[in-house]
Amino acid sequence: MTTDQSAEVHAAWLPPEAFRAIGSRRTLVHGAGLLVGTVHQEVEQACARFGGTVRRQEEAAGDICDGTFDLVLALSAPGRSTPGAEAVSAGLREEDGRPLEAIGDEGFVLAREGGVTVVLADTPAGLLYGLFQVVRLGESAFDRDRAAELHRPAVRRRMLDHWDNIDVHPVMGQVERGYSGGSIFWRDGGPRGDLTRVRAYARLLSASGVNAVAVNNVNVHATETRLLTDRLGDVADLAEVFRPYGIRVHLSVNFASPVVLGGLPTADPLDEGVRAWWAEAAGRVYEAIPDFGGFVVKADSEGQPGPFTYGRSHADGANMLAEALRPFDGVVNWRAFVYNHQQDWRDRSTDRARAAFDHFAPLDGEFHSNVIVQVKHGPMDFQVREPVSPVITAMPATRLAVEFQVTQEYTGQQRHVCYLGPMWSEVLGFRPWGPDAATVAAVAAGGSADGTAGGSPDGTGGAEGGGLVAVSNVGDDPYWTGHPLAQANLYAFGRLAWAPQADPLAVLDEWIDLTFVPLVSGDPEPLRRTLHAMMDGSWHSYERCSAPLGVGFMVRPGHHYGPDVDGYEYTPWGTYHFADRDGVGVDRTRASGTGFTGQYPQPWSEVYESPERCPDELLLFFHHVPYGHVLQSGSTVAQHIYDTHFAGAEEASESRRHWEKLGASGLVEPMLYARVLELLDEQVRSAEEWRDQINAYFHRKSGVPDALGRLIP
Ligand code: GCU
Repeated sequence: MTTDQSAEVHAAWLPPEAFRAIGSRRTLVHGAGLLVGTVHQEVEQACARFGGTVRRQEEAAGDICDGTFDLVLALSAPGRSTPGAEAVSAGLREEDGRPLEAIGDEGFVLAREGGVTVVLADTPAGLLYGLFQVVRLGESAFDRDRAAELHRPAVRRRMLDHWDNIDVHPVMGQVERGYSGGSIFWRDGGPRGDLTRVRAYARLLSASGVNAVAVNNVNVHATETRLLTDRLGDVADLAEVFRPYGIRVHLSVNFASPVVLGGLPTADPLDEGVRAWWAEAAGRVYEAIPDFGGFVVKADSEGQPGPFTYGRSHADGANMLAEALRPFDGVVNWRAFVYNHQQDWRDRSTDRARAAFDHFAPLDGEFHSNVIVQVKHGPMDFQVREPVSPVITAMPATRLAVEFQVTQEYTGQQRHVCYLGPMWSEVLGFRPWGPDAATVAAVAAGGSADGTAGGSPDGTGGAEGGGLVAVSNVGDDPYWTGHPLAQANLYAFGRLAWAPQADPLAVLDEWIDLTFVPLVSGDPEPLRRTLHAMMDGSWHSYERCSAPLGVGFMVRPGHHYGPDVDGYEYTPWGTYHFADRDGVGVDRTRASGTGFTGQYPQPWSEVYESPERCPDELLLFFHHVPYGHVLQSGSTVAQHIYDTHFAGAEEASESRRHWEKLGASGLVEPMLYARVLELLDEQVRSAEEWRDQINAYFHRKSGVPDALGRLIP
């Protein structure tokens, strides 16, 4: 089937109705450049629908704020005079009190005065982000005066990684860990051809703040390896579509490419022939895609090739690629997800949680400045609850990116409602060096979040930040994300990457306001209340359903959906809970366990070391305790397991009841309503399965009765 499916594709957070306020006004778009053209086109389309007008003016011609227009979107680069523009941002100051000199790369100033709403930016990208801010504001962008506000992204690179394959992988399918159908880029061994869907995606991403996309899986299989060379044209085609929305394309590359593609006898990063091969390959990429972002590499991890084969370090490998990309300003996103996946489960001394730190922390200072070490936010693997990865604290002289997983591999696979904004927000706001020191967001930002630089306890002296990255949850499903409510996760990632300190529930509100409210003719409040009731606490609710107290996994091996307490217990993957008749949890203390707690700086190394002080939700991540251990909450471990699993299943049913009530209201369109309802049926079933398996397992293991005498099978 090669038909264009765009007509059936859900508009997500950019329904045409969201542009009503802009489209019914008189707008001036001022400035030159590709992205200014995009801004103009967006406004033009809105005007065609809602009756407004738009004028495009490349050069200054009179005072832009003279009242001829209701909305002015103007470039105001330093040195270029735009009559009327200076006054708008005149009063603005930098955080340190100095008068504002430049708005900055992707930033914009928004103000309303004398009946004119003005967006000013130094760059076309800033202007585009400003336009989407006006879309978010809707009518309220025009209903009163607004003192000038400066908006700047906290994080420079806000990137989505697609785990999309070109060939359908026999086990992982078209999209690895994809729960939304096929890839929007690739199908059955080649590009999809019709890029309408990609264009719509670029637009959605840009409106959320994302500015970089890696278009293929980090596990680079045979066909995908060739994207670097003979299939490069397919990548260039995608770059062409992303470019007008300010998004740069990145490519996951196979470390063994010189051997596989180039026929060289080695891929040793210190071999001159290998280095020359990469330099040439990079040169060809930039000839085809001048604004190419760079390479993403998963090396020496889960079977992928890497520098270890040649006795070289990750720094050797990453630096070689960095040198190839340096002349073009490209970066290498080198993933720190490196561990032994062929561990002997009998060996209690090897701890997967330690692996990334053990591999990477000693290399701090050895990476070139265009290497970004990309660290999963937790030490294991995107579980519903993990502590922050200690690697984030350990590499002050390295550019670090923090990686999240928007695709819900371990959080309900887009069958459960699980709004992840609150989780990411907690991670981003975490202060690994204690309450007065820098946040995780500051490390990723390297110098702008919270006004401090990252990478070190006092937030100063750190390397430039590597940004935020997330694994996309998008596929060719008409709702983009399978579960329509999982769209909120994609939106929230972009918005939190732009403003990590934003309230995730306010971000959810924004998403509701854009996605649903413009389509509602009556009072949207009942809809808003329902969505908040279902989504605000859904992460915690999923946590209550699944593996308890931070211990992780307990999922079906392979596909990772649904409960299987011992599924991974006797496997080589390093993900164990060690439950026996007396207790459960992983002893990661320095005193008697794997010593992982020692990878944290103070105060957390002490807090995590102590079973009394360790936060309840992480207790079993750090400690092996008896079932009768009393938590800070006052409950025992066994009783906590029972209570949370009964509650998790009940919350799933409650969520379904909330949604059902909406049915008759007509506040959501019937197809979307039906899709969500069907998924909620599965969520209820699955939550009950989790409840019964987890409770039965621990009841049988421990013999501890439920204090409330509920039925445990
Ligand atoms: C998880 C996931 C894999 C993925 C890996 C990664 O282990 O299950 O499918 O390849 O993460 O992040 O590289």
